[in-house]
Amino acid sequence: MCEESSLSRRKVMKWVVLGIGAATTGVLGVPAVLSTFSPTIKHDDKKRWRPLGAKERFAEGKVISAKVETRLDKDFMHMTLPKDVYVWNKGQDEFVVYSRSCTDLGCPVKFDSGSECFFCPCHGGIFSKEGDVMNGPPKGPLHRYSYRLIDGYLEIDLSSVPVVA
Ligand code: FES
Repeated sequence: MCEESSLSRRKVMKWVVLGIGAATTGVLGVPAVLSTFSPTIKHDDKKRWRPLGAKERFAEGKVISAKVETRLDKDFMHMTLPKDVYVWNKGQDEFVVYSRSCTDLGCPVKFDSGSECFFCPCHGGIFSKEGDVMNGPPKGPLHRYSYRLIDGYLEIDLSSVPVVA
């Protein structure tokens, strides 16, 4: 009687331990498997379209620098990275949002309001206010982000420009 009862308890404990093990594997294992087979960088709409601020922030006719937050979600790494852009308000809700990365090797260009040109500090690349190459080794114009206005707020599509830009 005692022996049988003890054996029964042992069986119950065995099934409890197996149950806890299976539950733990399910809780930890499923997300790990999904993470392995999902794309390494996810671009859902919320991550794609990022806010730059109210359109009034960008004076008409001026080229103004701005920062946008980008998200990096890769495997277990999740972080926010600031990215610099230039915004040119052309008036009548028409904007140009430039990537600051030079199209030669990616150095950050700087806008000079006196000459109204973008200058690259690395190899002498110069771009016009329209973003066209005026001088130096860059082979193409500055990259432009797609943008939209939502209730007077400017947003840019991060996926509209190559990742290195
Ligand atoms: S990186 Fe800009 S000119 Fe080379």
